[in-house]
Amino acid sequence: MSESSAERARLLREQLNHHNYRYYVLDNPEIPDAEYDRLYRELEALEAAHPELVAADSPTRRVGGRPLEGFAPVAHRVPMLSIRTETDIEAAGAFNFDARVRRELRLKDDDPPVEYACELKFDGLAVNLRYELGVLVQAATRGDGETGEDVTQNVRTIRCIPLRLNADSPPPVLEVRGEVYMSRPNFERYNAQQRDSGGTPLVNPRNGAAGSIRQLDPAIAARRPLSFYAYGIGEAAGWKMPATHSQVLDMLRELGMPVSGERAVVQGPQGLVQFHDDIGRRRDSLPFDIDGVVYKVNSLELQSKLGFVSREPRWAVAHKFPPEEELTVVEAIEVQVGRTGALTPVARLKPVFVGGVTVSNATLHNQDEIDRLDVREGDSVIVRRAGDVIPEVVGVVKDRRPQPEPARFQILQRFPVCPVCGSHVMRQLGEAAIRCTGGLYCPAQRKQALLHFASRRAIDIEGLGEKLVDQLVDQGLVRTPADLYKLGVAKLANLERMAQKSAANLLAAIEKSRHTTLARFIFALGIRNVGETTAKDLARHFGGLDGLMQADEEALMQVPDVGPVVAQGIVQFFAEPHNREVVEQLRAGGLSWPEHAPQGKQPGALAGKTFVLTGTLPGMTRDEAKDRIEAAGGKVAGSVSKKTDYVVAGAEAGSKLHKAQQLGVAILDEEALLGLLRPEAQGKLDF
Ligand code: IVH
Repeated sequence: MSESSAERARLLREQLNHHNYRYYVLDNPEIPDAEYDRLYRELEALEAAHPELVAADSPTRRVGGRPLEGFAPVAHRVPMLSIRTETDIEAAGAFNFDARVRRELRLKDDDPPVEYACELKFDGLAVNLRYELGVLVQAATRGDGETGEDVTQNVRTIRCIPLRLNADSPPPVLEVRGEVYMSRPNFERYNAQQRDSGGTPLVNPRNGAAGSIRQLDPAIAARRPLSFYAYGIGEAAGWKMPATHSQVLDMLRELGMPVSGERAVVQGPQGLVQFHDDIGRRRDSLPFDIDGVVYKVNSLELQSKLGFVSREPRWAVAHKFPPEEELTVVEAIEVQVGRTGALTPVARLKPVFVGGVTVSNATLHNQDEIDRLDVREGDSVIVRRAGDVIPEVVGVVKDRRPQPEPARFQILQRFPVCPVCGSHVMRQLGEAAIRCTGGLYCPAQRKQALLHFASRRAIDIEGLGEKLVDQLVDQGLVRTPADLYKLGVAKLANLERMAQKSAANLLAAIEKSRHTTLARFIFALGIRNVGETTAKDLARHFGGLDGLMQADEEALMQVPDVGPVVAQGIVQFFAEPHNREVVEQLRAGGLSWPEHAPQGKQPGALAGKTFVLTGTLPGMTRDEAKDRIEAAGGKVAGSVSKKTDYVVAGAEAGSKLHKAQQLGVAILDEEALLGLLRPEAQGKLDF
């Protein structure tokens, strides 16, 4: 071996470890991946030719290694303690802790406040990393606190953990303690890959992290995208200890250890409460799970004065947040029937307090999701509710499944007929949903169809909500939207919670809805796949309802953005005698809209132009402006980009106006917009 090979290998190791740190810890790489790969392959080749060059801190040692028979025990030189938990959600937790600390330190009321270091409580697996002369030599789990397990092989695969500390003269011994975790984006990505390849997804990031570290085969651990945050030290020999815990973390960061930036040094209990509340608010936007915050007395001298009580330090406490995941039991799986007849399976849960609310139902979406989770009635499941997201079942705890095992849940088997109307249900090829074939015969579909018909962006009947629709349908007063226009005060007054006055209000709203637009009417019919935009395109193209009702698939496909699926849906809808009848009754009942001659392919005055609306316009609402721009063939987008043609700015326009100015996009006020719309407005187009 030549001197220069050894030197080159050392240099490559140093460079690779440096770039690894830039990439995984700082998230700020200096070189492209291809260049990293080139350096890596060069080192690999050198080591293959000269095996004696393989060093403990070589990045090539992050992968590979043989599966183990079991983990060797590791006696911790300094015990790994746990911390006392304050479960009080309110400020009391912080005040109790501060009061205890002050009492133990015999501080008087007028002594200055105690200084605390505040950190996140990461939700993963605690490990101890032992560095000797700056090189990572061993990683161990906490175990019972005295003895853990040697998980060095697996921990080496975690890219953000340095194999060598960044120091010219590293201490003889430094043990770094912290938490191995899996970030949410990595968890989602890993699970998506697992699903695609038919593998088993992980239940949650915490189990992902803990399970990976305790894998005997390091190749499996290497495939799991794990991360690490340092939060303290164990044995330290020959290291100049600073005065405070927060300085310890600063020093670890300088040595190249990942240390979370979400921490603070505060004075007294109010500071603790503030940190707790601030993190609590931002909890769901962090890219990883936490289950609380940790407060530590910052001064190391005061820490040693306070000491320990029964394996817990008196100087630290964990202040937990309400859990976002909880275990509960699926008491039954039922289905709900939607507007399009889709049977949506719903898990009826033993009520459980999670994410700040009591959850007793969670949607299971469809049969595919039931299969993916393999959730069965009687199963213990993990329910997650983070922020304002609807609660979801994220996994089944298989070893708690009742014995004998309940059967796999098949919607079609359990509900061969619609639970609401008794019609047959079926699953169409290529569709995830199972649907009731009852159509508008099915009261559940009828109710949903009525709600859609009356909704604000459809026919817009104010006050016709779910409760009222339930009663109208259940009492047989309304079967189709056309029946709404036959209601009288006398019929309505008999309904529950409906005084004469609100009956009159509803009738007035129904009356007002008689004058509508063709686009709204088409949208209100609830034809499958015909949303608001398609309805507007159809109205503009055909000009009147008769033309649309008579159109075949070929004619429909002349309309911009209408493909074969949408065209077929429309033809099928109007081929149904029942639907034609409802349309006729609605027209006879006095529903009307302006019509114009078919416009065919002729584009509107604003065709091809993209608008963004911001601020309040003096003379029209934002919805009106949107409708009018779209009626003239323009598009309305949500954000300003180089593709935006016009920004329409009203009072108190904010960042969108600013962006338009930066990008040099034309800016219009209401008057200028009306000017652009004028040629259309003078024509006969009234949508
Ligand atoms: S300090 C002597 N700090 O919470 C104090 N622990 O029982 C030792 N944890 O499983 C722990 N984040 O792994 C500390 N910022 C943090 C932490 C933290 C998470 C875990 C730790 C242990 C448990 C404490």
